[in-house]
Amino acid sequence: MLEKINQLKQSAMASLSEVKTQKELAELKVRFLGKTGEVTNLLKGLKDVPKESRAEVGKLVNDLRQELEPAFNEVESRLAAAELLVRYENEAIDVTMPGKKPARGTLHPLTQIKNEIISVFEGMGFEIFEGPEIDTDYYTFQALNIPKDHPARDMQDTFYITENILLRPHTSPGQIRCTETHKPPVKVLSPGKVYRSDDDATHSPMFQQVEGLVIDKNITLCDLKGALDEFACKIFGNDTKTRFRPSYFPFTEPSVEVDVSCYKCKGAGCNLCKGSGWIEVLGAGMVHRNVIENCGLDPNEYSGFAFGVGVERIAMLKYGIPNMKMLFENDVRFLKEFDK
Ligand code: DAH
Repeated sequence: MLEKINQLKQSAMASLSEVKTQKELAELKVRFLGKTGEVTNLLKGLKDVPKESRAEVGKLVNDLRQELEPAFNEVESRLAAAELLVRYENEAIDVTMPGKKPARGTLHPLTQIKNEIISVFEGMGFEIFEGPEIDTDYYTFQALNIPKDHPARDMQDTFYITENILLRPHTSPGQIRCTETHKPPVKVLSPGKVYRSDDDATHSPMFQQVEGLVIDKNITLCDLKGALDEFACKIFGNDTKTRFRPSYFPFTEPSVEVDVSCYKCKGAGCNLCKGSGWIEVLGAGMVHRNVIENCGLDPNEYSGFAFGVGVERIAMLKYGIPNMKMLFENDVRFLKEFDK
């Protein structure tokens, strides 16, 4: 029996020293220390040992178990550490490898231009006021000094929903709507989508305008000129000049058509300005007395200026875009050109 105990100890230690993986170790543990393992078998064989030496031999078997267990544990933690190290090496991340860059989008050129226009006027103290895209005949026309039978209604081909409800063809109704809640000094900018039954290379059934309105005491045409000079310089470059030409809008008196000096030829005349040195950019004027009244104000006390500018038109001019549809097709190759 003593012989057997010794042999078992030696064979267990020898196997332990050769074991390479945790799996092999687990199998070995079952073989020696498991419920039907060799050490347990020795204990079972104790009944054949003569009574007088049974206690002594039993102690030896137990000693063997107590010796083997920590030896197994030690090998187990050594193997676990080694296997972890291998995993660390295999799963290591090379932080110096170039990363995968997600595709980056850009703001649409129209959004960029709209934001630029807004920020120029915000810099002059204008507040933003947004009116509805579906509006009534009253706000869109009548309150702006365009009665039902007025020929100026033909200036825009309006989409009517009912006789009195329509898709706004301009942002000018914002002038009336905002003065219902804002009292002078009024200084607002009203950007938004507008709709007209119109469709060719420079017109679209939907486009965007930015409307400006200032009403206070002693507002003059000089104030309008100053504000638009600032706008032209910020959008088209610092040396840009503006020119007013007499025009007609029912809601302003006097009305002007505003040109900027051609930023391409600096006024010398080129294909962009068709040789004139000037490019038409927007309509403006001094708010008509009737409109001031419709804003609930006394035209003898208050005066104001207004202007309306097309966002697509500015974008086309500034970037030399020949066809307005290019702004709506959203061809990514085109849009990428505007990635600042
Ligand atoms: N509402 C005009 C249009 O859509 C643009 C316009 C012209 C707006 C003169 C104004 C203005 O406020 O004073 O064509």
